Amino acid sequence: MNAPAFDQEAFKLATRNQWEKSARGWNDHTPQIRAWLRTATDAMLDMAGIRPGSRVLDVAAGAGDQTLDIAGRVGPRGSVLAIDLSAAILEFAQANALRAGHRNVETRVADGERLRVEEAGFDAAVSRLGLMLFPDPLRGLREMRRALKPGGGVCTMVFSKPDANPCVAILMSTALKHAGLPPRDPYQPGGLLSLGKPGLIDELFRTAGFRDVATTRIDAPFGLPSTQAYLDFIRTSASPIQQILGKLDAAAAQAAWTEIEERLDAFRTASGWEGPNELLLTAGRR
Ligand SMILES: C[S@@+](CC[C@H](N)C(=O)[O-])C[C@H]1O[C@@H](n2cnc3c(N)ncnc32)[C@H](O)[C@@H]1O
Repeated sequence: MNAPAFDQEAFKLATRNQWEKSARGWNDHTPQIRAWLRTATDAMLDMAGIRPGSRVLDVAAGAGDQTLDIAGRVGPRGSVLAIDLSAAILEFAQANALRAGHRNVETRVADGERLRVEEAGFDAAVSRLGLMLFPDPLRGLREMRRALKPGGGVCTMVFSKPDANPCVAILMSTALKHAGLPPRDPYQPGGLLSLGKPGLIDELFRTAGFRDVATTRIDAPFGLPSTQAYLDFIRTSASPIQQILGKLDAAAAQAAWTEIEERLDAFRTASGWEGPNELLLTAGRR
C-alpha cells in the first residue's frame, strides 16, 4: 500500500494550532533560549547584512527575541516586520518590543510560504529556527527572495544533522515510538531536523534564486541547570514533540516522558545539564 500523500495545508494548520498553545511556554523561556542562541543569532544578523537604517523581514519570528535584536541594530531609521503563523506568539513579540521601547517593530500573522508583503521592499531577511518547520521550505525561500531588494541579504538558522543534535533526535524517535508510529526519515519535510541533510539547504537557496550562497556550522550547546529544566522547556515550548505526544492518553504520554527523561539524563554534567546542538547558518543574496 502506498503511504498517504503529505497534506501540507493540514500539517500547517496543526503547526499553527500547536504553536498557539506553546506560545506562552516559548515566551516564558526567552532568557534560556536567548543564552542558548546568543552567538548564533549575532552571526545570523551579521551574515544577513543588517545595519542601521535597514528594513528587515523576520520570518517565523515567534515571541520576537531576535526581532528585538534586529530592532536595536537597525535603530529608529530602520524597521522590522515580524511574521508568524501564530497570532498568539506574535502578541508576545509585540508586547516584548513595546516593553523594550522599540517603536520600529510591526507584527503580521502570515504563512511564510505566502508572505503577503510588497515585492522588493526589504534590505534583509532572516528566519531563526523556523524554515525547517515549513512543509515546502523552497516556497518559503522564494517568498523571502521576492521580498528582498536586489542585492538584499538573507540568513536562516536551522538544526543540522541528527547525530550533531542528539537530544532532538532522541525526542523525536522516543515520541514516535510511544505514539505507535514508525521511525521517520529525519529529513522528512516539516520536521525539526528536516533541513539538516548535508548540502540540502544550500541547494534550496540556489534553486530559490539566491546567489553567493554559503553555510556556516555553529556549535550551540544548550546549557541548563538540570535534565528537568530541559524537559520543562520541551513540555511547554516544543510544539513538534507535542504534535506527536498530544494525541496519547495521560498514561501513555507519561510513559513517553519517563523514557525521554531517562535518555536525556545521559547529558548531565558536573554543573547541570548540557545538550549538544549544531546549527546551520545559511546566507545568500538576491
Ligand atoms: C521554534 S519557533 C522559533 C521562533 C523564533 N524565531 C525564535 O527563534 O525564538 C518556530 C516558529 O515558527 C513558526 N512557524 C512555523 N511554521 C510557519 C509558517 N509556515 N509560516 C510562518 N511561521 C511559521 C511557529 O509559529 C513558531 O513561532
